[in-house]
Amino acid sequence: MIKEYISANQQRFLDELFDLLRIPSVSADSRHKNDVRKAAEFVKEKLVTAGVDKAELCETKGYPIVFGEKIIDATLPTVLVYGHYDVQPPDPLDLWNSPAFEPVIKDGKIYARGSCDDKGQFYMHIKAFEAMMKLKALPCNVKFMIEGEEEVGSDNLGTFVKENKSKLKADVILISDTAMISLDHPSITVGLRGLSYMEVEVTGPNRDLHSGVYGGAVANPINVLSQMIASLHDENGRVTIPGFYDKVVELTVAQREDLNKAPFSLDAYKKELGIDEIKGENGYTTLERTGIRPTLDVNGIWGGYTGEGAKTVLPSKANAKISMRLVPNQVNEEITELFTKHFLSIAPKSVKVKVTALHGGQPAVTPTDSPAFYAASKAFQEVWGKSPIPTRDGGSIPIVSLFKKELGLDTVLMGFGLDSDAIHSPNEHYGIKNFLMGIETITSFYKHYSKV
Ligand code: BES
Ligand code: MN
Ligand code: MN
Repeated sequence: MIKEYISANQQRFLDELFDLLRIPSVSADSRHKNDVRKAAEFVKEKLVTAGVDKAELCETKGYPIVFGEKIIDATLPTVLVYGHYDVQPPDPLDLWNSPAFEPVIKDGKIYARGSCDDKGQFYMHIKAFEAMMKLKALPCNVKFMIEGEEEVGSDNLGTFVKENKSKLKADVILISDTAMISLDHPSITVGLRGLSYMEVEVTGPNRDLHSGVYGGAVANPINVLSQMIASLHDENGRVTIPGFYDKVVELTVAQREDLNKAPFSLDAYKKELGIDEIKGENGYTTLERTGIRPTLDVNGIWGGYTGEGAKTVLPSKANAKISMRLVPNQVNEEITELFTKHFLSIAPKSVKVKVTALHGGQPAVTPTDSPAFYAASKAFQEVWGKSPIPTRDGGSIPIVSLFKKELGLDTVLMGFGLDSDAIHSPNEHYGIKNFLMGIETITSFYKHYSKV
């Protein structure tokens, strides 16, 4: 029944998703302020037509949170669906094969910014809900909470959650904003890394100098910053910040063996990324390096002359954006502080260093022995013909740990993206098959969840 409904309506589902993808809801860029709001309005409207009792835009200091609910019977369990309608900036624009906000289908995939992260994924939930409503097959209560600031750190969502505990009362959180291993190997994410995101500024002389007249006699902030950054890793690929690993939970041998049972081809991995060799913390596999180990990476670095041709200049300033991915039981505020202290302590006297924390979030591990996980597992078996493999993902969704802390709720991370979908990169895409089978899997989750 559900299957028939999905295939009979799939063209309309895709048309609607395309309309949403055409809205450039880039939360990081204030020039898109109106577009981000437009996306919120769009989502609210679609919730209404899908059949919620009520939907509203809950205003925050930033972008609104779209909230909608369908309560069929207060004695039945309630599923709270979370997603985000904002997207990452599309830059660098010239690397897109087709414009980021003009979705097209190529080889069975939808190409557009947000197609996978997260518009394509949360929209599956609205369509799954619509299908269950139309077929009178919704077996429990549903709440939707779709926010517009995930890609910039969800600052206002935390406050919203704390202030609206009864509105958000539910039994489980359901999120599709992660990846599965492959179409042949469905998986459920059971761990997400946390994040500490820093910006640093190194200042040398009070103005840009002629690099011939002064070069060699005055500290060059870019040279200094490069050295400081290079010193943040040792020869074993470990982060050198004192105390960085103190709270890291080491997995048991059995747990590590389990994690490494997930299908993974190093050759395919290297080939897909166009690299000849991998690099990371010694003593850990690639799955461990991204799943259970903390890291430090420069996300951007600038300073001096970067225009066309050569300009001989010894710059006054150099800057970098540095992120650290965290694992249990690291605490983002503590890591932020350790970084700040250490980075200031390694600064030579010839420069001044400023460190700012941009945003962060705690890591999360979700249970595999809960009724909701069991239902999700059943749903994957039913639709994909295989038991899903539990995986630890390297990305972050800071709100997951907050849901646990503030609402006492566990999350099921039922993601249908693929690592190769190029989220945050040019040519982001999402498989139509993932989209349609995802809708079916979600409906199957509700069926099984209402039975356990
Ligand atoms: N959906 C991603 C997180 C993700 C992607 C988790 C793939 C697991 C697998 C989310 O939209 C995201 O990009 N989060 C940011 C953090 C946020 C605080 C800006 C991230 O991970 O960089
Ligand atoms: Mn996302
Ligand atoms: Mn993202």
